[in-house]
Amino acid sequence: MKVIITENYEEMSKKAAEVVIDVVKKNPNAVLGFATGTSPIGLYQNMIKDHKENGTSYKNVFTVNLDEYVGLKADHDQSYAYFMRTNLFDHIDVDQKNTNLPIGSAPCLKSECDRYNALLDSHPQDVQVLGIGSNGHIGFNEPNTPFDSVTHLVDLTENTIKDNSRLFNSIDEVPRQALSMGIKNIMQAKSIVMVASGKNKAEAVRGMVKGEITPALPASVLQLHPFVTVVCDKDAASLL
Ligand code: GLP
Repeated sequence: MKVIITENYEEMSKKAAEVVIDVVKKNPNAVLGFATGTSPIGLYQNMIKDHKENGTSYKNVFTVNLDEYVGLKADHDQSYAYFMRTNLFDHIDVDQKNTNLPIGSAPCLKSECDRYNALLDSHPQDVQVLGIGSNGHIGFNEPNTPFDSVTHLVDLTENTIKDNSRLFNSIDEVPRQALSMGIKNIMQAKSIVMVASGKNKAEAVRGMVKGEITPALPASVLQLHPFVTVVCDKDAASLL
């Protein structure tokens, strides 16, 4: 695991974007795995800037996202589908037909998980972007999710509902469930770039980099992956 510690969020975002842009430059047909949350927004802004200034093209990429809230349609402004369109897809030349997220409003969630797993099996990620939850979750794989899990329905923990409520009008509006790629789906990526920022991530980052490899801290599984780059700012790295 390569760990890059940056002065601040801006530098973290720039460095992490370089990793993704490099993958696309080497392989214009790459499969890109994306994440939501506040942490990767700067990374996406750097990709947009590079696209506009240097012309890096996403015309032929295929994208897969980690997760989606259950019950929110793609046009709901808190859905991850909406997040991806407004923070990235609408600003680059990606073919939106080639962008994929689990569908949280699907009538049968079990079939939706099966569909998404088949999609991931046939499109292994060349690079997977990750953030980290303050309890060490990746995607929506909460503590004690088995390492061999694939896309599944998740009951969100109180901790995650509370963390994510800052983006909703009230905590009652936060969905209680989500569909998430499993840990096995994440680990199949050829490379992984993780962004972490802020003091509230420091404990999780310490566990991920230096702690025991255990489902109790899902991100610790990344120690077993051969090509992980963790880019974190000084605050997130403060316990390393
Ligand atoms: C959510 C997402 C995760 C993300 C985490 C941290 O729970 N499902 O993929 O890593 O939030 O988000 P943030 O970057 O906003 O702290």
